[in-house]
Amino acid sequence: MSKHIVDVRTTSRAYEVHVGCGILNEVGPLVRATAGGTAVAVVCDSNVAPLYATRVLDSLRGAGYCASLITFAAGEENKRFSTLESILEGLADAELSRDDVVVAVGGGVTGDMAGLAAALYLRGIKVAQVPTSLLAMVDSSVGGKTAVDLQAGKNLAGAFLQPCVVVADVECLHTLEQELFADSCGEVIKHGVLADPELFEELVSNPLTSSARTDEQVAHVVAKNVAIKRDVVNADETERGLRQTLNLGHTLGHAIEAASNYQLGHGSSVAAGLCCVARAAEKLGWSEAGIARHIERVCEAHGLPTDTQLPHETIMRYATHDKKRHGGTVNLVVPIRIGKVEIRTVTLDELEKVVRIGCGTQGDNR
Ligand SMILES: NC(=O)c1ccc[n+]([C@@H]2O[C@H](COP(=O)([O-])OP(=O)(O)OC[C@H]3O[C@@H](n4cnc5c(N)ncnc54)[C@H](O)[C@@H]3O)[C@@H](O)[C@H]2O)c1
Ligand SMILES: [Zn+2]
Repeated sequence: MSKHIVDVRTTSRAYEVHVGCGILNEVGPLVRATAGGTAVAVVCDSNVAPLYATRVLDSLRGAGYCASLITFAAGEENKRFSTLESILEGLADAELSRDDVVVAVGGGVTGDMAGLAAALYLRGIKVAQVPTSLLAMVDSSVGGKTAVDLQAGKNLAGAFLQPCVVVADVECLHTLEQELFADSCGEVIKHGVLADPELFEELVSNPLTSSARTDEQVAHVVAKNVAIKRDVVNADETERGLRQTLNLGHTLGHAIEAASNYQLGHGSSVAAGLCCVARAAEKLGWSEAGIARHIERVCEAHGLPTDTQLPHETIMRYATHDKKRHGGTVNLVVPIRIGKVEIRTVTLDELEKVVRIGCGTQGDNR
C-alpha cells in the first residue's frame, strides 16, 4: 500500500504528516531526520502502552536514540494538571535536554498532554505525534493545539506547539473500540461538509463504518482529513478567522455533549449539532435546499445521531456558556452547500431561533 505524505506549513514550523499502514517502525528514522537529539521519552496511556510502546521504542532505539517510556492512566478524567506534572517529572527523570524529543503515542488525550508537557519542559522542547485513534489522526494531532482540562471546563489551559513530524499508522485502528471509531466519524463528516464535496460523496457511497472498509480506504480518508485541517490551520495558525470554521457543528454539538453529561460521544454530538444547524440554515434560507437531508443521510449511514430531543432551553443554556461567545453574540458556522461554510455572527435571539427550528425537528423538511 502506498503511503500518503501531507505537508503542513505554519508560520512557526513546517512538518510532514505520514499516513500509511504498518508504518510504526518508521517513527525512529522520521524523528531522527526531523528532530535530532539523543534522548526521547515516549508518552503513552495505560491502554496504548501494552499494544504499541514496544514497537515504537524499538524503532527509536534502532535510530540511535536513548528511549524511555512514560505512562499514565487512560481516560479524559486524567487529562489534568496532576497527570501533566507526573509526565513533566518523568521527562526530568529521563534527563531530557533542550535538544531532545517527546514522542506522543496514543489518542487525543495523550497527544494533548504530551504536547503540553513538551511545550513547558525547559520552556519548550520538540514533540512528535503518533496518533493511534481515529480522532487523533484526523483532528488533534495536526494543528499544534495542546491542553489539559480544568474543573471549569475542557481544554482551558494549554499552549500551541507544532510537532516536528506526525506518523499515523492506520493499522493501529484495528484495536480501537468500534464504538469510538464510529463516534469519531462525526469529525470526518464535518471535514467533508466544511471543505471537500468529493470526500463527502466517498463517505456517502462507502461509509467508513462498513465492515467492507479497507486499510487503504481509511488511510486515504485520513490523509484527506489531514489536508483539510492543514489548509485551515495554515491560513490561520492562532484561531481567529478561518480556524473558527473547524467549529462547524460544535456550537450546538458541545451543548448537546455537555447536556448529556458527556454520555454522548464528542463525534456523535458534533454529528447531531451539524444536522441541527443544517436544518435551521436551510429553513432560514441561508443555505442550499436539500443540504440538511444530504448530511443526515451520511450521518445515518455511519450510525450517528442526526437530532436531539433535549429541551431547547437546555441547549441554549449550554450553547451560550461556550467560551467562544463574544459579548451578546455567537459566531455560528453555517453550512452553505457541501464544501462551503460561512461564519455568521448571530445574536442570542437568532441562536434561539436556530435551536427552535433546527433541534428536535428531524423530518420537518422532507
Ligand atoms: N488538540 C486538538 O486540536 C484536539 C482536537 C480534538 C480533540 N482533542 C482532544 O482529544 C481528546 C479525545 O481524543 P480520543 O478520542 O483519541 O481520546 P483518548 O485519547 O482518550 O482515546 C480514546 C480511548 O481509546 C484508547 N485508544 C487510543 N488508541 C487506541 C488503539 N489504537 N487501540 C486501542 N485503544 C486505543 C485510549 O486509551 C482511550 O481509552 C479529547 O481530550 C479532546 O479534547 C484535541
Ligand atoms: Zn471536535
